[in-house]
Amino acid sequence: MKETINNLKEEITALFTKEHTLKELNDLKVLYLGKTGKITELSKGMKEVPNEEKKEFGMLLNELRELFNSKFETSKEELETAELNKKLASEEIDVTLPGTIINTGAPNILEHIIEEVEEVFMSMGYDVVDGPEIEEDKYNFELLNIPKGHPARDAQDTFYIEDEKVLLRSQTSPVQARTMLKAGGSVPIRMICPGKTYRRDADDATHSHQFMQIEGLLVDKNISLSDLKGTFDTIAKKLFGPDCVTRFRPSYYQFTEPSVETDISCFVCHGKGCSLCKNTGWITVSGAGMVHPNVLRNCGYDPKEWTGFAFGFGAERLAMLKYGINDIRVFYQTDLRESKNFDRKDVE
Ligand code: DAH
Repeated sequence: MKETINNLKEEITALFTKEHTLKELNDLKVLYLGKTGKITELSKGMKEVPNEEKKEFGMLLNELRELFNSKFETSKEELETAELNKKLASEEIDVTLPGTIINTGAPNILEHIIEEVEEVFMSMGYDVVDGPEIEEDKYNFELLNIPKGHPARDAQDTFYIEDEKVLLRSQTSPVQARTMLKAGGSVPIRMICPGKTYRRDADDATHSHQFMQIEGLLVDKNISLSDLKGTFDTIAKKLFGPDCVTRFRPSYYQFTEPSVETDISCFVCHGKGCSLCKNTGWITVSGAGMVHPNVLRNCGYDPKEWTGFAFGFGAERLAMLKYGINDIRVFYQTDLRESKNFDRKDVE
């Protein structure tokens, strides 16, 4: 027995001094360790070994098995490394070849402006909230003090999904109502809501049936118009530079009282008068005002206890002013020649 084992040892050692293919290696494994392999057969003879020799025989058999396995693994590894090296050598990269140009996208210019505005407001503790684009008449108009038949609805004619009931929102102001109702009339609110809005307008250089607004609402105790002025002034300076001066002009909105148009000093001519500001020195950027007591009441806030201000920016208008774009259709025509002018590097 011992002799057979020794012979097999020599046989195996000799076998692995030669080179083998992967297939040959696997065949060898079957030949020695398979069901009827040489080593397997030998271990079947264990029964016949006298008891006192069993231990030694078992050890020798194990050694033999380990010898085969270690030789097998080493050869296999060598073979695999050699194959990998061959593959790597054949796939050498020619670094002098010109690279493939990959077209990269850029964030939409409106998204960029909105992110910028969001950052400024978030730094002042405002939440950014969302509201539905398919809206109920109740939120878009009625709760905002614009009852059915009110002439103010004419300017905000929109697309109706269910007559007089469900529509594409014509403004982001319904999110004011939704936020107040959700807050339940007992906690202060500070939020902005950027989002898509729709109106039944014929598209031209300054009108689009789809556009974006950035709504803002603050409700708290003892809030006055001077808080709105201070807030607007801070925002304007952050967006248009520290030299920017602001002013309010009286205006009219159904959901604010008093209402204002907010102007910034023209950042091109600094008030001297130019084509951008139509020689007035001022540019209007948003509508705003103190939240109308009816709106507070409609939305669960007691106007005797709570006051607030609201505002609405046109996102396209901000972008057009900031980047000198003179046609609103640019935002919606997905012409790559236009959007490439405003990739991240340019606008930052
Ligand atoms: N929703 C108004 C519009 O579409 C804009 C606006 C004006 C929003 C005054 C406001 C506001 O929140 O206070 O014309």
